[in-house]
Amino acid sequence: MINNGKQASNNKSSISMIKHDYIDDQTIKLLIDGFYSKLRQEPVLGAIFEKAIGTSDSDWQPHLEKMYDFWSSIMLSTGRYRGTPMQKHQELPRFQIELFDRWLYLFKETAQELHTDDIVAQYSEKSSRIAESLKLSIYFKPNGTSHANSSQ
Ligand code: HEM
Repeated sequence: MINNGKQASNNKSSISMIKHDYIDDQTIKLLIDGFYSKLRQEPVLGAIFEKAIGTSDSDWQPHLEKMYDFWSSIMLSTGRYRGTPMQKHQELPRFQIELFDRWLYLFKETAQELHTDDIVAQYSEKSSRIAESLKLSIYFKPNGTSHANSSQ
């Protein structure tokens, strides 16, 4: 086959269209990098992250590395993540509970860009469950008091 410029560019575009039906370190990195680059452009969510993490790529690198480990532990049971996400989120200035929906929407949308439906469903299920636990730990006290409507 003659590999002229047109063929090469067709190949390139078809490679970027491939939906991965597996999860590994490389696909986790693609997902996390894509997701946080969207989050950083969001008006309200982006500002929360900017305040906690910073604006430069070097500020962001440690957070991204942590998130690769987190999702590797969740999806591939590698045990790489060591951290206390509940505590980290409780310590953030209070934000509106509805932002979790936007977070989950963008996460799923990014997974859909990269993965086949069954993998998207796995990510969606895990992220929704974790979001519910985080919400409970941030907004609802054991005695039944709700703080869901208070924002910073
Ligand atoms: C509106 C929803 C959310 C907001 C505003 C938010 C915000 C943040 C921020 C600002 C940090 C950085 C904290 C710091 O380094 O000081 C963080 C860390 C983190 N977030 Fe979220 N988050 C949200 C939802 C979620 C969800 C749904 C998950 C998991 C499915 C998640 C998992 C994590 C993890 C694992 C860390 C790292 C904690 C550590 O330092 O070990 N977050 N989040």
